[in-house]
Amino acid sequence: MDYRVFNTDEIDHQQCYRLLIGSIVPRPIAWVSSIDEAGVPNLAPFSFFSIVSHYPPLVSMAVSEKTHAPKHTSANIQATKGFVVHTVTDDFAEKMNASSANYEADQDEFAEIGLETVPSDLVDAPRIKGCPVAMECTFEQVLKFGDEWVTDLVIGRVLRWHVREDLMLEDKYINPHTLQPVGRLGGPRYCRTHDIYEMQAPYIQPDVAHPNTPVTG
Ligand SMILES: Cc1cc2nc3c(=O)[nH]c(=O)nc-3n(C[C@H](O)[C@H](O)[C@H](O)COP(=O)(O)O)c2cc1C
Repeated sequence: MDYRVFNTDEIDHQQCYRLLIGSIVPRPIAWVSSIDEAGVPNLAPFSFFSIVSHYPPLVSMAVSEKTHAPKHTSANIQATKGFVVHTVTDDFAEKMNASSANYEADQDEFAEIGLETVPSDLVDAPRIKGCPVAMECTFEQVLKFGDEWVTDLVIGRVLRWHVREDLMLEDKYINPHTLQPVGRLGGPRYCRTHDIYEMQAPYIQPDVAHPNTPVTG
């Protein structure tokens, strides 16, 4: 079988982007609400999103610049500290996509998209009404990467989860079958989570697991 080889120093930033978003798939989508110092709320999706650590519960989003200015999400989080990460599910996919449009800083994207909000408990940024899973987070730190193209790796600490009651399994787990999360692929492509199977890890025995090892992932 032949392979194509791409060397980073021989391709431009767009081809790096295409290869990354095609190779690292499917990606979860953080649907992030934030708020600026004037109280204008903001909403945008980020698929360069991951868990940094499970205890303390830290998450990261890589927010790239937009025409040499920071995106509102990164600027807001650094200014007002609190934000909310919502899990994107089938029912919300189109509104999530709509929220990635270029809105001005003083535009309320929730109103533009037709989403209702409810106040958060611990942070100023609002929560999307009806979203099945939301995490209230506080800003932890930002790491900056790149010269030509600056990316803010924003790290936040989860303070509180809001999980819709019917999604809970044994009062402990979030049921992926009923959650129906959406994943991001390369380009304009997405995937649904409708074909779930199980595979037990060979090395983790619930009774001998290290206390820091979640036995069911
Ligand atoms: C599914 C999806 C995932 C995205 N992931 C990212 C990402 O990881 N990083 C990023 O900088 N932009 C990402 N974007 C683009 C931002 O959502 C978009 O630039 C948005 O307008 C930023 O809004 P803001 O300036 O209000 O923060 C994504 C867009 C979509 C539709």
